[in-house]
Amino acid sequence: MAAYDYETHEYDVVVVGAGGAGLRATLGMAEQGLRTACVTKVFPTRSHTVAAQGGIAASLSNMGPDHWQWHMYDTVKGSDWLGDTDAMEYLAREAPKAVYELEHYGVPFSRTEEGKIYQRPFGGHTTEFGEGPPVQRTCAAADRTGHAILHTLYGQSLKNNAEFYIEYFAIDLIMGEDGECQGVLAWKLDDGTLHLFSAKMVVLATGGYGRAYFSATSAHTCTGDGGGMVARAGLPLQDMEFVQFHPTGIYGAGCLITEGARGEGGYLTNSEGERFMERYAPTYKDLASRDVVSRCMTMEIREGRGVGDDNDHIHLHLNHLPPETLAERLPGISESARIFAGVDLTKEPIPVLPTVHYNMGGIPTNYWGEVLAPTKDKPDNVAPGLMAVGEAGCASVHGANRLGSNSLIDLVVFGRAAAIRAAEVVDPLTAVPTPNKRSIEAALSRFDGLRHASGQVGTAELRLEMQKTMQADAAVFRTDKTLAEGVKKMEGVAGKMSDLAVTDRSLIWNSDLMETLELANLMPNAVATIVAAEARKESRGAHAHEDYPDRDDENWRKHSLIWFEGNEASLGFRGVHLNPLTSHNDGGIDPKKIAPKARVY
Ligand code: FUM
Repeated sequence: MAAYDYETHEYDVVVVGAGGAGLRATLGMAEQGLRTACVTKVFPTRSHTVAAQGGIAASLSNMGPDHWQWHMYDTVKGSDWLGDTDAMEYLAREAPKAVYELEHYGVPFSRTEEGKIYQRPFGGHTTEFGEGPPVQRTCAAADRTGHAILHTLYGQSLKNNAEFYIEYFAIDLIMGEDGECQGVLAWKLDDGTLHLFSAKMVVLATGGYGRAYFSATSAHTCTGDGGGMVARAGLPLQDMEFVQFHPTGIYGAGCLITEGARGEGGYLTNSEGERFMERYAPTYKDLASRDVVSRCMTMEIREGRGVGDDNDHIHLHLNHLPPETLAERLPGISESARIFAGVDLTKEPIPVLPTVHYNMGGIPTNYWGEVLAPTKDKPDNVAPGLMAVGEAGCASVHGANRLGSNSLIDLVVFGRAAAIRAAEVVDPLTAVPTPNKRSIEAALSRFDGLRHASGQVGTAELRLEMQKTMQADAAVFRTDKTLAEGVKKMEGVAGKMSDLAVTDRSLIWNSDLMETLELANLMPNAVATIVAAEARKESRGAHAHEDYPDRDDENWRKHSLIWFEGNEASLGFRGVHLNPLTSHNDGGIDPKKIAPKARVY
């Protein structure tokens, strides 16, 4: 192995990733006087949160009656009863506080006539525990809500003296001999130097792994880097079979058309011009939960009622809405529709198709963001020194299916929770632990091995093979046959990692090496997804299994876990947390309200 020098930096907390969750955690840690560094592979305001459009859910009641318990009920039902009840209560209860904090930090929310934060309807958000009409719960900054949040949080983090290491690629976690995390090794992309960030707490906020699929709304940077590092550290990934397809990705391009479009009155039609959602979800129609709408669209196409020359997509209509509403509330998607679909949405429908959008699964955590290292006797055992927040983590607040606009609120509620918890467990007065030399050597050796990879398969070629396999075999609808074939194919694809060819050996702006490191992170995420999907013999949320069309609470109301040893994946389970944080007598939700039942919209 080539010899590598590295510069050492010491902090109380190192946050990896600068999207909404990473920045909210960074800001919270810095506000509490912890010496905090944020290490990020892209400039903070280019993180994928910048692409979040429609809004952030919180029961503010600005547009009509709402209650945190209704939000909690909708989240439980949306999760298809796989979410952890304590985490879902925490999310719904803390959401209004977290949004008002954002407002006070300076997020430029859209406003009502009275000057309150504007809120729009989103799929699966209802009133009266699912018995009343849709609720306007999603707080919006036009259709650029993530953009507004990200810029505000970055400014606030700088104001609070958080330090940023920008365009540094995190290679691996540094783990102590007792399984505690001690820091992270990173590669500075613009000058090729290596950096060891030693810390008392590492927070992974690295986002999802949408790029394991061929067509995704996610940025090309969404490569599951946190999941990859955690898998290599011998910790499990949880509920990876649950991959969300957003109903309205632009056909062919994959770019997102926000659910806010349907929230503002948009609707879907098939080749017969029929508003088909009325047939499948008579009450909430186009505002049913995302997994439901994506499945209905896929069924329409499969039954020959798709639109276009190949009958392979669906139309989203906004052309009946006043042009002023479109200009004021949906300016971003007006532009996306024009650029990516060649459509003037004031006049024509937008061609859309369900597109990979979000990973419900990820690194298992409790609702404080502490990463779990479950054992047989201790399913909630905490891995010291390590947290995960945002899409990288799995609290598990979204269970088998996430509601639209529950992602942005997850980022800020749990980013903030991680900071609150870190202030309790991190002592700024103690010394930073001495990092484990063996772990540093292992990280350097893996980096060097990939840098000098001299096999037969190019990184882009192998990535495409992985993406096409996942797209075909871990799709909206799954069968025993497609999943078994998919697992076999993915074993072959993952096996080719040892035959990779990296042609550029330099260390400065080496995109070949960076994409190879990203592929090495995507791979365990992809394998875990298809292995867990093959194992789950039921249908729940985003996992629609045609051979097992029903939810099976008796056998499958449990979280899947996947551990890796090299390329070998092994499967385990942990129980779902069934108890809310607050008892009904103390003002908590009535457990009868959230008891499992048929999930209809
Ligand atoms: O449709 C959207 O604006 C996406 C929101 C979300 O995924 O939460």
